[in-house]
Amino acid sequence: MEDFIRGIPKAELHLHVEGTLEPEMTFALAARNGIDLPFTSVGEVRGAYEFTDLQSFLDIYYHGAAVLRTAEDYHDLMAAYLRRAAADNVRHAEIFFDPQTHTSRGIPFETFMVGFERAQRAAEREFGMSTSLIMCFLRHLPEEDALATLEAALPFLSQIVGVGLDSGERGNPPEAFVRVFAVARAHGLRAVAHAGEEGPPEYILGALDALGAERIDHGVACEQDEAVLRRLITDEIPLTMCPLSNVRLRVFDRAEDHNLKRLLDLGVRVTINSDDPAYFGGYVADNYLMAQRALGLTREDVVRIAANGIEAAFLDATRKTELLGEVQRYAG
Ligand code: HPA
Ligand code: ZN
Repeated sequence: MEDFIRGIPKAELHLHVEGTLEPEMTFALAARNGIDLPFTSVGEVRGAYEFTDLQSFLDIYYHGAAVLRTAEDYHDLMAAYLRRAAADNVRHAEIFFDPQTHTSRGIPFETFMVGFERAQRAAEREFGMSTSLIMCFLRHLPEEDALATLEAALPFLSQIVGVGLDSGERGNPPEAFVRVFAVARAHGLRAVAHAGEEGPPEYILGALDALGAERIDHGVACEQDEAVLRRLITDEIPLTMCPLSNVRLRVFDRAEDHNLKRLLDLGVRVTINSDDPAYFGGYVADNYLMAQRALGLTREDVVRIAANGIEAAFLDATRKTELLGEVQRYAG
């Protein structure tokens, strides 16, 4: 089963590129950019990755991104992720990035977009992987900041397939970002949003109805509200679930408590993804494996989840058919 899981063709739809910054790269980029770190070893950095909730993670994560300065840095970060994803047979990736984490430090939009693009083109050539970017707005900041970020992104829209909403969820409802999502959708961008990770099930409805989200990132709280659960099933709304993240951020106490398999059995369009793999102890295949072992996913479940990821992707029909064919041939 482990080999079957590692090799199955996958789409990854919930991955923050800033969350792929491994401690080894943090040290390399700090040295290259002449930045002093408050840590002396990779082991010490990993030791600091003990989280009690989402915010305790975000504090460390936004801090870590400060070593990213040049287009080369952003290229190296993206290239390392894409190489690692290819090893898990990720055939298509939709990659989140948080422009505000970088522009707030004076990094121009062009710097990261140029770096990302070079790595994406190389992965397409080398691995035959398709990739696109989803620009996330930080929900702990005002909507005005998000609107200014969208404005700054306009020259780069051909590189971006959609917009998302991330950062601290509690007390930051989706309704606060109605305008910026409406403008983004008017520009032809697709919409997703983190909802029901730590926040209440109503935030899932808010993401769908106020923001026009086509997929929900995490969404584990849907189980707390029968009407929300029914809505996800009826409208075939995919959930981009990240089991290792949920356990590391104590959304669930134990892997065995995760509701991914229950939701799958109820007919929810569950997908498996890695969120912030450098911080949560594993890339996408590790997330599949953890869910398989802790929740008893069958081989058919694994195939269903891999196919769900491809069906939920913002891809044209031709590429979807091609990738679904790869999954079917692999599953025999
Ligand atoms: N939730 C909210 N914001 C985030 C996450 C997450 O899981 N990962 C990176 N930013
Ligand atoms: Zn996330």
